[in-house]
Amino acid sequence: MSEHSPSSEAGLVEVDLARQQVRRHAQVGDLAMLFTSDYKRYVVRLHKEGVTHTHLGAYWHSALIGRTWGATVQSQIGHQAMLLQPSLTDVMKSLKRGTQIIYPKDAAYIVHRLSLHAGSRVIEAGTGSGGLTTALAWAVMPSGMVFTHEVRPDIHQVARDNLARLGLLPFVKMFLADIKDGFKATDVDAVFLDVREPWRYLPQVRVALRPGGAFASLLPTANQVIELLRGFDEHHFADVSVEELILRRYKATPDRFRPDDNLIGHTGYLIFARCIDPGEDMTRWQRPERQRYEARMQARAEIEAQAQRRTDEMAAGGKKYPKLPLPG
Ligand SMILES: C[S@@+](CC[C@H](N)C(=O)[O-])C[C@H]1O[C@@H](n2cnc3c(N)ncnc32)[C@H](O)[C@@H]1O
Repeated sequence: MSEHSPSSEAGLVEVDLARQQVRRHAQVGDLAMLFTSDYKRYVVRLHKEGVTHTHLGAYWHSALIGRTWGATVQSQIGHQAMLLQPSLTDVMKSLKRGTQIIYPKDAAYIVHRLSLHAGSRVIEAGTGSGGLTTALAWAVMPSGMVFTHEVRPDIHQVARDNLARLGLLPFVKMFLADIKDGFKATDVDAVFLDVREPWRYLPQVRVALRPGGAFASLLPTANQVIELLRGFDEHHFADVSVEELILRRYKATPDRFRPDDNLIGHTGYLIFARCIDPGEDMTRWQRPERQRYEARMQARAEIEAQAQRRTDEMAAGGKKYPKLPLPG
């Protein structure tokens, strides 16, 4: 029965209960999180014989399995933790790192802007530690696929271990490959690049993307963004947008509610674009503010050229122009 079938209320409940996200009790194979009172989070997969060692003692999974989500559980030395299902943010923060990972705030927006959903096919490079890969797989499963590329074998292995631990490998095809040689999938809905010089790979992106497909990249510095914008002109990408997300946290203390003292500053510029027909005249599809700027620059160049022509003609003793009236 479909999840939205109106025919039976009992049917809906049955389907909902079958989904891990709405189960009431922790079960073997579930992803779980032990959340300690000093705000440490341990993301684990539950096994009958499993044990999770924390700074507050060991938690036997046999004592967690069957407990209600949200229950308080005890370590072998009597420290309490809350048993929760981890959020995607918890999961991303729990990854073993070999590289910097994309922040959850940026990952969430990337998934949204690339319009990814169950069934989407998306290419990514580099895989890095698998931070964004996790968010992409979370979005496209169970029927979609992430095709991720990484050039460094050690980092590729870090990501593979992370994704295996989370049970996400069925939704990710991992390639140990340099994207300069092209991507390992075609006709995908979207491509995301987190590499130092993404503009170098726009021809490969064009080959891999379906017509009209979405492209995005995250870059830490403005000069990289400028190079990418120039690359878009050359390789026919339009509907270009450069954005940045600033996340501000607050102290959740009712009697002293105010912004946190520390702000996560700049994480990166997010750049989005669409792959368009190579026959299109790119100037027509540039953003209005850019079209206005280009028109102003062209007008200025024409005025300057005209002035130069006059100067040259006068110097050659040719055509005489009437003197301009003096002001006032
Ligand atoms: C900043 S990390 C990516 C982090 C990742 N987005 C995450 O959230 O975990 C950039 C990665 O791109 C890889 N890389 C750089 N150039 C590449 C190329 N030409 N082909 C494949 N991978 C590349 C690097 O080895 C590095 O691991």
